[in-house]
Amino acid sequence: MGRHGLGKLAIQGGTPIRQKLLPYGRQLVDDDDIAAVVDVLRSDWLTTGPKIPEFEQAFAALTGSLEAVAVSSGTAALHAAMYAIDIKPGDEVIVPAITFAATANSVVFQGGRPIFVDVHPDTLLIDPEQVARHISTKTKAIIAVDYAGQPCDYDTLRKLADRYHVKLIADACHSLGGSYKGRPVGQLADLSTFSFHPVKHITTGEGGMISTNDAELARRMRVFRNHGITSDHRQREQQGSWFYEMVDLGYNYRLTDIQCALGLSQLRKLPAWVRRRQEIAWKYDAAFAEMPAVEPLRVREDVSHAYHLYVVRMDVAQLRTTRAEVFAALRAENIGVNVHYIPVHLHPFYRQRFGTGPGLCPVAEAAYQEVITLPIFPRMGEKDIEDVICAVKKVVGAYLR
Ligand SMILES: Cc1ncc(COP(=O)(O)O)c(C=O)c1O
Repeated sequence: MGRHGLGKLAIQGGTPIRQKLLPYGRQLVDDDDIAAVVDVLRSDWLTTGPKIPEFEQAFAALTGSLEAVAVSSGTAALHAAMYAIDIKPGDEVIVPAITFAATANSVVFQGGRPIFVDVHPDTLLIDPEQVARHISTKTKAIIAVDYAGQPCDYDTLRKLADRYHVKLIADACHSLGGSYKGRPVGQLADLSTFSFHPVKHITTGEGGMISTNDAELARRMRVFRNHGITSDHRQREQQGSWFYEMVDLGYNYRLTDIQCALGLSQLRKLPAWVRRRQEIAWKYDAAFAEMPAVEPLRVREDVSHAYHLYVVRMDVAQLRTTRAEVFAALRAENIGVNVHYIPVHLHPFYRQRFGTGPGLCPVAEAAYQEVITLPIFPRMGEKDIEDVICAVKKVVGAYLR
């Protein structure tokens, strides 16, 4: 069906709006980033070296938290967080239905059960009322996901977490550089997790971080990322000792010095890059204000949105087609649209393992039928932004009732 519409529109509009695909996200790596990496490659320490604490301290300072623990991915960050708060078989952790699968998977890694709750229809952020409804005596934690880059309602979530004596975790993989009521993302929960995958705000190729004010949780995660061993190679070399003890079951979730050097160099540019993302988003907002079938997600007034993603809902009631067809038509224009996300409880793994399925989170399921992610990344030029707006106008115009 998608292919069909794609052809129709290409014919209707002549040549596609762009000759080459504009991706939905892309890293920006400059010469100074490359030089920082090369310096490490020439140094003594490729991993467990001095760049790790340097990156961690810079990250902690940026997020206004006491500690930051570097790990090998955002998924490893979530896993380390679930380990640190001692999630075990029999425990329940509340997660929103709209997120990347890794959020819920991290609970399962530890033997826990993710409890999927619905989201607000206008922001697609976890709905605190739904959280309250699903808390049970087995609940150990709530994972709030700052979907698209908009921080969740942390004051309300904190009250709930305190009332029921559960931990509050922020999956902030989308919201680095954002803030809530003037407080930076990274200090809004007991533990906040980040990803440095290339489409994210800063990249280390693959990589992740957990920020926290809790020194004991940070210590636990440092042991966890290193096989459950209490000292690393460099510490032992400095102490002239070979002795080490494995005190718990851990993983090799270490980030290398090569990656940390890249992360440090990228981190310096973060504020400018977030501002550029916001500028692009505001241009989209202004353009789509005149297109009733295209509804950007609502942004609350008490946040600074970091715009990892720019997501719109297509009001399919106003169109003679489906979201799938709009998606295919935009791709035919070489606009690299995407869909975030398939509600996690609809994935075969969760259906089979936990008996989830359609009807569990109706708001998320309805949103999934309508959302489209448009390209947004700092290197986008004015012409790229115009192309996206033109393509949306062209496609929506062709299908308007
Ligand atoms: C919300 C969310 N959580 C977790 C992750 C996992 O991060 P990573 O890909 O670095 O493992 C992602 C990555 O896409 C994400 O978007």
